[in-house]
Amino acid sequence: MTQFQPQLGNAFYKALGAEDMEPLLAINEIIANSIDSWIEEYCGKKAKRPKLSIDINMSAKQITIQDNAGGMEPEELKNAMGFAKVQKELSDCADDLMGMYGFGLKAATANLGGHFEVVSKRKNKDLCHVVMPIDKMAQEVKAGKSGMLSDIEENGYNKKTKIKDVEKVFNPAKTKSGTFIYISQIKRTNFNPESIMNELCYAWHFFTQENHLGPAVEIKFNGVKISEPEWGRDQGGQVPYSSIDFEFPFSWRENTKTIDTKVQFSVWLNYKGGQYQAGGLSLYRKLQMVSYKDQELGKWWSNESASIEGYLSTNYLTPNQRKDDLDRTTRFYKEFNKALEPVMKGAAKLVDSQRGGLDGKGFSRTAMAQDEFEMGKFLALGWLKYFNEHPLVEVSSKFPKELEKFLKDKQNTPSGPEDPGPEDPGPEDPRPEEPAVEIFEPIDENSFNFDGETYQLLILKDKTDGSSYDWKKTGEQIEIFIDDEADGINKELGGMLKKMTNDPGVGKWEKLSLNLVKEHVIHQFLLKENIQNARAFAYAKSWIENIYKNE
Ligand SMILES: Nc1ncnc2c1ncn2[C@@H]1O[C@H](COP(=O)(O)OP(=O)(O)OP(=O)(O)O)[C@@H](O)[C@H]1O
Ligand SMILES: [Mg+2]
Repeated sequence: MTQFQPQLGNAFYKALGAEDMEPLLAINEIIANSIDSWIEEYCGKKAKRPKLSIDINMSAKQITIQDNAGGMEPEELKNAMGFAKVQKELSDCADDLMGMYGFGLKAATANLGGHFEVVSKRKNKDLCHVVMPIDKMAQEVKAGKSGMLSDIEENGYNKKTKIKDVEKVFNPAKTKSGTFIYISQIKRTNFNPESIMNELCYAWHFFTQENHLGPAVEIKFNGVKISEPEWGRDQGGQVPYSSIDFEFPFSWRENTKTIDTKVQFSVWLNYKGGQYQAGGLSLYRKLQMVSYKDQELGKWWSNESASIEGYLSTNYLTPNQRKDDLDRTTRFYKEFNKALEPVMKGAAKLVDSQRGGLDGKGFSRTAMAQDEFEMGKFLALGWLKYFNEHPLVEVSSKFPKELEKFLKDKQNTPSGPEDPGPEDPGPEDPRPEEPAVEIFEPIDENSFNFDGETYQLLILKDKTDGSSYDWKKTGEQIEIFIDDEADGINKELGGMLKKMTNDPGVGKWEKLSLNLVKEHVIHQFLLKENIQNARAFAYAKSWIENIYKNE
């Protein structure tokens, strides 16, 4: 066992622990590190990233966080206990890595408890284990002593550990890697697990679904898997069809360089507005949340416009060193704040209860919530049209098919004087007339009509990404790949899939399960085509019902 001197000494840890970081923020720092390690591990490699699992367990006695990311060797672990700043900046994957200051881990652990340990292991290497008695170290400082109490074991478990049955708790196989963080002498024991769980959903929603970095990350909190957040849940839910995705191309000068970027937005209306906690734009940097329901950026938020909610994502927003808010002093923040203002203010004016709506006489959410037609009209001719026609943004989501009829109606009625949009309404939308057909129509077991096209469903046997089936759209063909050997898939289903892909003509049961797979794929396909979930589900259901209607 070797005692080592972290570059920063006892006083550093003492100071960090006095920072008073919220438990949730601290947990988020540790999660960010696990994800960073997972990103780094496969940086520049051809192989796809395997699934990352992060397991958090939190009680009044102890907090543990375990991951199966890349792990650390003794040297890395020692560095991690000091300032780790340079490491992530120099990485080939620097653009994707969240860490930037080099002390998130120390600040997080020191704020959560008075004692922490890190056990870590790289693939095919020995495990190493550091014990940091922060409270004791702080006492040493007080007593004017300089001896270090931090302690690392480079080839196995550390005898000074306080982890009960450590060999049972964390013991990856020789070929596996990962990190286990243990924190005890918990400082704030009155945390609310449910609200932490809920907030984790928002904080990590870009990672709990597949993204450009790899498959969905599994984050578990006290044994429960973090799911997709229900946006707008506390505000009466999202108004259907109101959600719009757009990009905001933006350039600014930093020193002598001009930097061009595109900030990604998703914005929608909730049924309820209100004050403080209602509405706002959650801000994400490198897919990590840095501010929840921010009401400052763009200076558009008010009680009148609080039914607007959304999020944006850019690599250029930075958190402050305490990570409890953004650094609002950066050049990017200031410039972007100015640029965003007119766009969001225009949208806010639209939903203003005094001056908003299509006629400028006010927007009444409550009345609209009861009148689907009026709401549809407002969305088509006001809200969505506003973003679609705004010169500063590029809308990427398609206009919801369900609202097309309002645009068509509009073309047939001469626009009266009570038509002014909130800002400049712009020219009438010159969408070509389309025959009024149902958007979705089941045909038979292998096809359906959607938006004027006939789509064929094609079953192919192929390896998938680990799930039992997968699909892709190629022109008007929807190819469904069935993998009867996918991992995680239970034997019975595997057998069934095998049977039905080998001989699709067989029994009724096999056919039914295949049709259920197709139904699911149709549902997914419609979601991708921007059909609202409830509608997509109903269409997919109508497709399968159509097949069995005579049986
Ligand atoms: N779960 C983990 N798996 C592998 N390495 C880790 C893990 N957690 C921390 N590390 C290592 O420890 C170092 C220190 O982490 P720390 O959070 O203190 O700094 P950072 O992530 O570089 O920057 P920031 O202060 O912005 O978080 C990291 O750079 C990384 O090398
Ligand atoms: Mg970090």
